[in-house]
Amino acid sequence: MKPHKEFLPVPLETSLVLIKPGGVSRRLVGEITRRIEARGLAVVGLKLMSAPRSLVEEHYSEHQGKGFFESVVAYLCSGPVVAMAVRGENAVRAIRAMMGATNPLDAEPGTVRGDLALSIDDNLTHSSSDPEAAARELALWFSEGLPA
Ligand code: CMP
Repeated sequence: MKPHKEFLPVPLETSLVLIKPGGVSRRLVGEITRRIEARGLAVVGLKLMSAPRSLVEEHYSEHQGKGFFESVVAYLCSGPVVAMAVRGENAVRAIRAMMGATNPLDAEPGTVRGDLALSIDDNLTHSSSDPEAAARELALWFSEGLPA
């Protein structure tokens, strides 16, 4: 008999989470990381860094030409960020849901942005939008590699 699909193993995904300068300066690194771990996801890479502009421009390359590109790049370079690689079942989707809508005014209570943020320009975190974006972004921020 074929196993029911619920019993088939779910592949692990790894996603990139950035805690933006506002989240670091507001001392929210612990709170955001706590929520990620409490959900059952594993932090498999973690660093506090001042991101070079070239890295941030490459990271946001899909937004090049949009009105907010310059300001979001300048903002990410304005102070230290925490870059985190987070792994678990359906990690990409789970993290996006936990962070809430990009604009904190649209984010549901209970999400990171719905609880802790008010402005789209400082929406505390970035997280990968899909597994392909996650692979691209992890290669940029963790070019030294991650544990298998
Ligand atoms: P993030 O998920 O990091 O992706 C791009 C960022 O640009 C976004 O979060 C916001 O912080 C910022 N941003 C500013 N204005 C907009 C906008 N109108 N639409 C999307 N993102 C915006």
